Amino acid sequence: MYHISIISSSIRTGRKSHNVAVYLQKYMTKNKLATVGILDLKSYNFPIFEERLQFQEKPTAATLEFAEKIKASDGIIIVTPEYNGGFPASLKNVIDLLYAEWEHKPIGISTVSEGGYAGSQALIFLQFMLWKIKAFTIPATLPIAKVQEEFDDLGNAIHKEETDKLASAFIKELLWSIKLTKKESYPSDVISF
Ligand SMILES: Cc1cc2nc3c(=O)[nH]c(=O)nc-3n(C[C@H](O)[C@H](O)[C@H](O)COP(=O)(O)O)c2cc1C
Repeated sequence: MYHISIISSSIRTGRKSHNVAVYLQKYMTKNKLATVGILDLKSYNFPIFEERLQFQEKPTAATLEFAEKIKASDGIIIVTPEYNGGFPASLKNVIDLLYAEWEHKPIGISTVSEGGYAGSQALIFLQFMLWKIKAFTIPATLPIAKVQEEFDDLGNAIHKEETDKLASAFIKELLWSIKLTKKESYPSDVISF
């Protein structure tokens, strides 16, 4: 079974998008789709970026642990709110922190908003940035509009049947992409993977 880490990006007081992260963890675990851990950026409480991990002289244990968890994950789900048409600084902070850990990593994005547009603008910025850093963003997304009406504070979907259906399609694409990246190396003397 693959291991998936969910990055819960919002560190805002009274945050709502974290409920989506908890829901996805419960959904995947309950249906035995993957083993799942949440990397909660509010708990990590990383300082504002000063230098990439690879160039830090004395990285903190939390930074090393976070990097190791990204590296060890077969796939990642990023749950992010939209703030002012983009994604929050807390998420940019950890994207910039790592480099090799992101390379070829299958990543599914779930954008979240309070209003009706489901973070569609944040999605564009985030996809571009992950592409720049050579991550493997999957085409499927899980956009959540009106998050406060869709999830309770324990991570339960209010409209369970519809939400489970959307989550299932999204996770299926992520698992398919992970499987694709696990293919054997190409037989060549010139190129190796
Ligand atoms: C600083 C800030 C800017 C926001 N900008 C947007 C926005 O551009 N578009 C949008 O749909 N929602 C916006 N929202 C509302 C969020 O979608 C809302 O806070 C939602 O609950 C998800 O974020 P959360 O996990 O921090 O609660 C903004 C919220 C904050 C705090």
